Amino acid sequence: MSNQILLTLAIVGGTGSEGSGLAMRLVRSGYRVIIGSRSAQKATERATELNSTMGEPGLISGAENLQAVREADLVMLTVPFAAQRQIIETIRPALKGKILINVGACVNPDRPAQVELPPAGSSSLDAQEQLGGDTRVVAAFQNVSSEYLSDPERPIDCDVLVCGDDAEAKVAAMHLVEAIGLVAYDAGPLKNSIVAEGMTSILVGINKRYHARLAGIRITGVSQ
Ligand SMILES: NC(=O)c1ccc[n+]([C@@H]2O[C@H](COP(=O)([O-])OP(=O)(O)OC[C@H]3O[C@@H](n4cnc5c(N)ncnc54)[C@H](OP(=O)(O)O)[C@@H]3O)[C@@H](O)[C@H]2O)c1
Repeated sequence: MSNQILLTLAIVGGTGSEGSGLAMRLVRSGYRVIIGSRSAQKATERATELNSTMGEPGLISGAENLQAVREADLVMLTVPFAAQRQIIETIRPALKGKILINVGACVNPDRPAQVELPPAGSSSLDAQEQLGGDTRVVAAFQNVSSEYLSDPERPIDCDVLVCGDDAEAKVAAMHLVEAIGLVAYDAGPLKNSIVAEGMTSILVGINKRYHARLAGIRITGVSQ
């Protein structure tokens, strides 16, 4: 544990596989984590399950999305793109002045292995467009499979590209990545999330073609 215990993270859509995995990893790294859901009951039940998996009751809590965001210093978004605008609208009153770390990637459920990005360019750009300048959006974790995250003991063989237009917000996201033992790369402006999100579909396709489940990315040739 470290002084990160002072930071509270809300994971909006944290009842899903990606958000739940991140919750377990991040709480273990010393953050306080609130699972957010459209249903407070579903959030609380999921938090109880995750605490049970980790053998530490009470570490992770659950709340309805807006309440979770109200209580948070940092907000992560882990929802399917089709639901993103609607969910952001419900949490918007509590997002003003906060950093939103979007984990979501625009993936067409009918053709997940084919890159199909939205008119804004990516789900992160879409979120920034929707929220305007009051909330700083950063993209991160798009290439980390929930299969890795779901087992908090399993080493993760994947680097993390972090894209954003605000330097402070990007550093906050990079700290989260490093806290769970992964290497974070400053991958440039939020516009570059187009590539990180497109890579998600490429990894889905590689998994399919090579009968794998854990395809990820590594940046080579850079000493950190
Ligand atoms: N799974 C992965 O390996 C992976 C890897 C990298 C990036 N991602 C991205 O991360 C995001 C989350 O992935 P996931 O696999 O965790 O997604 P998921 O399990 O399908 O959904 C996450 C949560 O979003 C909410 N949600 C789902 N459908 C909704 C709808 N139609 N309307 C409103 N809310 C809805 C649900 O929360 P409540 O019902 O509790 O509100 C759900 O538990 C996606 O954008 C995905 O592309 C996933």
